[in-house]
Amino acid sequence: MNAVSELSFHVEPGGALTGCIRVPGDKSISHRGIMLGAIADGVTEISGFLEGADSLATLGAFRDMGVGIEGPDAGCVRIDGVGMHGLQTPGADLDLGNSGTSMRLLSGLLAGQRFASTLVGDASLRARPMRRIIEPLARMGARIGSTDQGTAPLHIEPVESLLPINYAMPVASAQVKSCLLLAGLYARGETCVAEPAPTRDHTERMLAAFAYPVRRAGPRICITGGGRLSACRLDVPGDISSAAFFLVGASIAAGSDLTLEHVGVNPTRIGVLSILRAMGADIQVMNRRDAGGEPVADLRVRAADLKGIRIPQDQVPLAIDEFPALFIAAACARGETLLTGAQELRVKESDRIQVMADGLAVLGVEADPRADGIRIRGGAFGGGPVDSGGDHRIAMAFAVAGLRAGAPIEVRNCANVGTSFPGFAALAAEIGLAIEEARR
Ligand code: S3P
Repeated sequence: MNAVSELSFHVEPGGALTGCIRVPGDKSISHRGIMLGAIADGVTEISGFLEGADSLATLGAFRDMGVGIEGPDAGCVRIDGVGMHGLQTPGADLDLGNSGTSMRLLSGLLAGQRFASTLVGDASLRARPMRRIIEPLARMGARIGSTDQGTAPLHIEPVESLLPINYAMPVASAQVKSCLLLAGLYARGETCVAEPAPTRDHTERMLAAFAYPVRRAGPRICITGGGRLSACRLDVPGDISSAAFFLVGASIAAGSDLTLEHVGVNPTRIGVLSILRAMGADIQVMNRRDAGGEPVADLRVRAADLKGIRIPQDQVPLAIDEFPALFIAAACARGETLLTGAQELRVKESDRIQVMADGLAVLGVEADPRADGIRIRGGAFGGGPVDSGGDHRIAMAFAVAGLRAGAPIEVRNCANVGTSFPGFAALAAEIGLAIEEARR
């Protein structure tokens, strides 16, 4: 049995979430800060960096390519940028663990290098679809090999330079968009990517912070290769995807009143706020401010009576990582919640529709999974042993379900919580969740 299956959460039923806390830094922004800082000219200083296994995998990969990086030390990282062409051949395969963002974004960046590299990952990452990046990168002249199933390991061969493309993405994916924009930095001419629906725009915002021009025209984002990035300071806001567990927890637990400080509220990430509010949640967005081109706010959330809704499809890409938590909100809501147009959930760190439906069934919640979503009927539910499938967000979602469960919940297979939210159980316990970690 490996380390991933050894950690469980034991959650006693009941309780309320109160207090004022800060969740760890945004994972998407932390990855991008390392990548752009590494290929910039000059020293980039990052504060608020997420010290989770996923962003540390990205950091480790750049160290393996010869980039001098100090830290992380209490969220501070100092990167001695090597410039656009200063990365060195890694001494070994780049192991990206569980991190899809590392693999997809790095593929774009490495496709334009003059050295070969191999990207590997854990069993979950090796099962995730990579053709969505391999095909457009191949059209740019990149040479990338994968398994016959289009999965990792990915072998990237050196090229002299890449060709620009004009690409209409078939799926609304910020990872694919970012991969192609990073490859576009190394292409001769202008690369344009059109998204079928808005997705997180951290790459575009951060390129601008590094003084690299990015042009946006409606759904198209364009970048011209051959420029340089200038180092900058980055302040990473708290991750709204981590805050989501407590937004749901405080909403469903009577007597809760919780403030989450310094959370990123980029408009391309706030689907969870829109969906919870449509369900009747009481969330106040306070002290809006800017942190290096990313909007930030404090969120106050109090318990509320939630009602089931039909989740608008245009909110799906804007809340793509928050559905495990939102399914728990749905299980606590009056009536039925229906999610459609969310087939992407089946190819995340786990098949999030099936694994959530299985766990909800253990608790006694009526949940009907479909190809592209799920129907959940809210009501009282019990406890029992739930398997997270090694998926960090599913583990945390079922932990907060304990606030409304009729009996203890044992969430199994929780070690990957450390990929995005190190210290989750301790922080959750501090604000009122009756959670204990058990290692076997
Ligand atoms: C991410 C994009 C999303 C999201 C993932 C992080 C990013 O993936 O689910 O957790 O940082 O660009 P997709 O682009 O596959 O939707």
